Amino acid sequence: MLPAKSLWKPVLQKWITGRVRRFRMVPSIPPFPSKLDSLGLYLHVPFCKSLCPFCPYNRVAYEKSSFERYLTAVLQEIDIHAPHLRSAEFSSLYIGGGTPTVDLTGLMRIISHLRSSLDFRGDICIELHPAHMDEDDLASLKEAGVTMLSVGVESTTDELLQRIGRNHSGKEALDALGRARRVGFDTINADLMFALPDQTVDQWRHDVLAVLDQGVDQLSTYPMFTFPYSDHGREVRARSVQRPRDSTIRAMLRFTDQECIDRGFDRCAVWSWNRPNTGKFSSITRHRYLGFGPSAATMDGDHFYVNTFDVDAYADCLPAHRPVALAMEVDTRLEMAYWLYWRVYELFVPAAEFDRLFGPEESLDSRFGTLFSTARAAGMAEKTSDGYVISPAGAYWIHRLQNEYSLNYINRLWGTCRRDPWPAKAVL
Ligand SMILES: C[S@@+](CC[C@H](N)C(=O)[O-])C[C@H]1O[C@@H](n2cnc3c(N)ncnc32)[C@H](O)[C@@H]1O
Ligand code: SF4
Repeated sequence: MLPAKSLWKPVLQKWITGRVRRFRMVPSIPPFPSKLDSLGLYLHVPFCKSLCPFCPYNRVAYEKSSFERYLTAVLQEIDIHAPHLRSAEFSSLYIGGGTPTVDLTGLMRIISHLRSSLDFRGDICIELHPAHMDEDDLASLKEAGVTMLSVGVESTTDELLQRIGRNHSGKEALDALGRARRVGFDTINADLMFALPDQTVDQWRHDVLAVLDQGVDQLSTYPMFTFPYSDHGREVRARSVQRPRDSTIRAMLRFTDQECIDRGFDRCAVWSWNRPNTGKFSSITRHRYLGFGPSAATMDGDHFYVNTFDVDAYADCLPAHRPVALAMEVDTRLEMAYWLYWRVYELFVPAAEFDRLFGPEESLDSRFGTLFSTARAAGMAEKTSDGYVISPAGAYWIHRLQNEYSLNYINRLWGTCRRDPWPAKAVL
């Protein structure tokens, strides 16, 4: 059991960000980014053919006319930024959703516009839905430069897929992975969800084995989060749907960890395992990033901000002004805390990257030494010659803390932005 949030939350905040505070995001439009190195790009495509009730992401049902308005607006948003980003070199593009390939022709136009407007060279990572992955789609993605993809398999058990409202079978999802392998990408990740209502350990074992047998390069396993504002959150309250017990969830994680390690995979994040020497599929590899599209977030080292979530409001305000709904300033300590949070999630905190981003006045040890000493004493971290590695025990507690802590932030921000296209504020 975790101690009450009122006890550990202020201690953790003070330790990491320097003071106990509530973060306020307000309606303001920050200047264009000034720290132009190490910037990644994020594109949000908020459309799906069928809406899963458990899904917390910003997405609406696909309609051609609405997608066309979105497309025009995204191209305009890129155009507004391009003159200010002439000296920036972007090293990755992450395309998330929604279902980014729901209108493949439109997506291709956006990718090609990004390429011609910005100096962009690196990996293109994309989230895919098994029902939108025929061989031609995959070949077009490859031709457009997509190198890494992640497929939402979620489960291979048909009753569970139906129970959570997915519109594909287990076999369809596994076949989609097979097609992706045949077309050939640098990294193929499969997402599975565990702790589903009434899910058994045997069903979970079957999921993990089936996906690994398809030859994926990476497996990501997410516990079903129940966001109070999602349709599934309403259902849980209404029908008291039970999550499996903690011991069941631990058994699922233990099995996954052992199976992946037996097959030579490394644990590359709290919830992910990958083959050694393959690029990691991750939305958080870039510390600073610039987001385009409704609900896209930007973290540029000076500000953190989010675009309006509402597709109509987004399209209506462009090109007259930028679609930023809420923003807050980020001071160096907060930026360090944000960086630390994601590196700990990736289970390795590299000292050299800290120095490159924040040195030379501070080092990883001068800034977070006490925190790591405590984590080492508790068996949660180890010091290496190039940073700190989070141990399996540490990973378990981070997993628990993330459920309690980041969910809280995400719920406040996303819940507020989903209710109102232009909220007066969000207090996190
Ligand atoms: C944007 S979706 C993936 C792409 C595509 N839209 C699909 O559904 O196949 C990203 C992933 O988030 C995970 N996810 C979505 N809702 C979740 C929830 N409530 N709890 C945990 N994971 C969730 C799923 O594993 C999903 O594959
Ligand atoms: S899980 Fe994927 S397909 Fe389902 S609603 Fe969310 S983004 Fe759309």
